[in-house]
Amino acid sequence: MSDIERTLSIIKPDAVERNLVTEIKEIFKNKGFLIIKEKKIQIEKSEAEKFYAIHEAKPFYNDLCAYLSSGPIVVMVLEKENAVLGNRELMGATNPKDAEEGTIRKKYGISIDKNSVHGSDSVENAQIEIAFFFKD
Ligand code: CMP
Repeated sequence: MSDIERTLSIIKPDAVERNLVTEIKEIFKNKGFLIIKEKKIQIEKSEAEKFYAIHEAKPFYNDLCAYLSSGPIVVMVLEKENAVLGNRELMGATNPKDAEEGTIRKKYGISIDKNSVHGSDSVENAQIEIAFFFKD
């Protein structure tokens, strides 16, 4: 038996800039994800630092936060059975070079930084990340 889950998805600046939002949303919808909430925003670097606090000790942390706040992003709450894992499979490997055919990052990702989408990595983090962007 599977659980209906919610996960946070971000369409990152590289994909928004290339007008890929509608196309990427269609991919989610075609795979059975419901887009429960959605907004297009641009965040401050300080907010990106809070969002990615889990990566604070990583050498790429500063560039990652600068990048996420560099342009508009689309944040969405996706719902489906096993949404967290399903979204991660649909996104593909973090580095587009390693991503499998048919995944979003394989199709649209430019580099490990400009990898077009973010998705929560666990049910617990999904709840934290959803609350971060959608306060209600
Ligand atoms: P994301 O799923 O948004 O989570 C953290 C991000 O850090 C990741 O996607 C990548 O875009 C970025 N990143 C940059 N360098 C690395 C790295 N060496 N390993 C993992 N993630 C990295």
